Amino acid sequence: MIEARGLYKKFGDFKVLNGVDLRVEEGKSIAIIGRSGGGKSVLLKHLIGLLKPDAGSVWIDGLDITHLTERELLKVRRKFAMVFQGAALFDSLTVSENVAFMLRREKRFTDGEITKKVEAALDMVDLQGAGPKMPVELSGGMRKRVGLARAVIYQPEIVLYDEPTTGLDPVVSDSIDQLILRVNEYCKVTTVVVTHDMRSARRIGQRIFMLANGIIHMEGSPDDIFGSSDPLVSRFVNGIADTKDIDL
Ligand SMILES: Nc1ncnc2c1ncn2[C@@H]1O[C@H](COP(=O)(O)OP(=O)(O)OP(=O)(O)O)[C@@H](O)[C@H]1O
Ligand SMILES: [Mg+2]
Repeated sequence: MIEARGLYKKFGDFKVLNGVDLRVEEGKSIAIIGRSGGGKSVLLKHLIGLLKPDAGSVWIDGLDITHLTERELLKVRRKFAMVFQGAALFDSLTVSENVAFMLRREKRFTDGEITKKVEAALDMVDLQGAGPKMPVELSGGMRKRVGLARAVIYQPEIVLYDEPTTGLDPVVSDSIDQLILRVNEYCKVTTVVVTHDMRSARRIGQRIFMLANGIIHMEGSPDDIFGSSDPLVSRFVNGIADTKDIDL
């Protein structure tokens, strides 16, 4: 469903991706882990065509999207929903209006159809009845749920999540992870989650990819990754800093 082949990307002289290879099968749920600033968000943006690689290619459903124009990309992007880190809600719109926003712009559905779809999407994320609320009335976890509802209302084939549980307490994180898995299963979407929350990676990732030094340093099942004796992997998953990471 998603394939990155030998992706290279640098900003100025700063090399972020140094030959990334990644393959995600249809319907699977994978996690990409790695250090802050290691290029996870940059990699995600390549998968959806928001950034172009210096070399290498990205394939979606058998189509090479690397050199498509913005116009051609619009069709491919329909398959995607992206849940951004901060949920990015419009504060002047209600929850329902936020969830319906893109559907309304497309003008494909009647008001009645949109209302039904919004209700179904809010149900999916356990936010029944929250439609009339304003974003300021919501907790961080609820905002993330609204972000999720806004993604699933589209019926995407692929959902990309950038740090969906960052800044949430462990209990709320757990509930968001469960919703991500629910969406993966019931909506039959391919799921890619970028996270540095190890508990979350373990729960969500049927496969886990560790990005380090611009490449996929290791790919494996959660047991492979968490039981790895590779020093880089085991230090990372156990949260142990290398002395050279510490600024003296
Ligand atoms: N558009 C850009 N122009 C210049 N540099 C960029 C751009 N986007 C990202 N970078 C740089 O690329 C590096 C990787 O950034 P990225 O946001 O992918 O990291 P990350 O792994 O997602 O980190 P975090 O876990 O903190 O979100 C950073 O050093 C960042 O400053
Ligand atoms: Mg990031």
